Amino acid sequence: MKKLIAIAIAATFLVGIGISSAIATDAPAGAIKVGNFGEKAVVSFDHAQHADGTCISCHHNEADGKYKCTECHKGEAGEAIKIKDAAHKKEVGKCWGCHNKKSPTVVKALKCKDCHVK
Ligand code: HEC
Ligand code: HEC
Ligand code: HEC
Ligand code: HEC
Repeated sequence: MKKLIAIAIAATFLVGIGISSAIATDAPAGAIKVGNFGEKAVVSFDHAQHADGTCISCHHNEADGKYKCTECHKGEAGEAIKIKDAAHKKEVGKCWGCHNKKSPTVVKALKCKDCHVK
């Protein structure tokens, strides 16, 4: 009997894990503040305005379940380039490609204050 209960509990637990890993992480609803290391006003980012992109196009470590850019991209470059370059830098910057008017792939040119909201 004890063994049966143990199996039942184990089975329930496994089904639970199966379900939770089958559901992909949801993007946060509404605007969030991107981690900030400098003097410039923090950046407001709304996933709902970026629903066209695949998650991995920005979250390149998605396979490891790591979503927070600033967990790895800090104020200064380390193993990963600094967060400012990850966002801004020509060619590598994830935000620059779509939002800098000088980018060949620009879809919506933005000004500093459109992202760095006080
Ligand atoms: C498309 C959005 C976007 C635009 C437009 C933008 N930035 Fe940023 N910027 C970011 C993101 C994202 C970061 C990284 C997060 C942070 O540090 O706040 C950042 C970081 C920075 C940083 C380093 C962090 C800090 O607080 O000092 C500076 C300086 C900066 N931006 C200046 C500017 C200036 C100046 C402009 C206009 C010429 C500009 N940014 C336009 C998104 C943007
Ligand atoms: C255009 C780029 C971009 C796209 C596309 C994108 N995200 Fe994000 N996401 C971000 C940025 C920037 C942050 C803020 C990271 C930080 O503060 O370090 C963020 C934060 C998150 C966070 C919160 C992390 C935390 O712990 O605070 C989750 C979860 C997340 N994204 C999931 C998703 C999912 C799921 C998708 C696809 C449906 C997606 N994102 C698409 C740029 C993007
Ligand atoms: C688990 C750590 C980690 C997380 C989380 C992470 N990165 Fe990175 N990222 C790195 C490392 C390490 C590199 C440098 C090596 C490489 O290119 O893989 C890098 C490289 C980059 C590059 C340069 C790529 C190129 O083509 O040269 C950009 C841009 C970038 N990351 C943006 C982001 C953004 C935006 C987020 C969040 C949406 C993010 N990263 C989340 C670790 C991370
Ligand atoms: C694949 C292209 C693409 C990338 C990459 C991208 N964006 Fe956007 N972004 C858009 C589009 C398209 C809109 C307009 C959405 C709308 O109007 O509904 C937008 C809207 C915005 C807005 C609102 C602008 C306004 O005032 O109307 C902000 C702020 C913004 N993005 C910040 C960012 C930041 C920060 C990053 C990098 C982490 C980023 N975006 C990366 C395409 C992109």
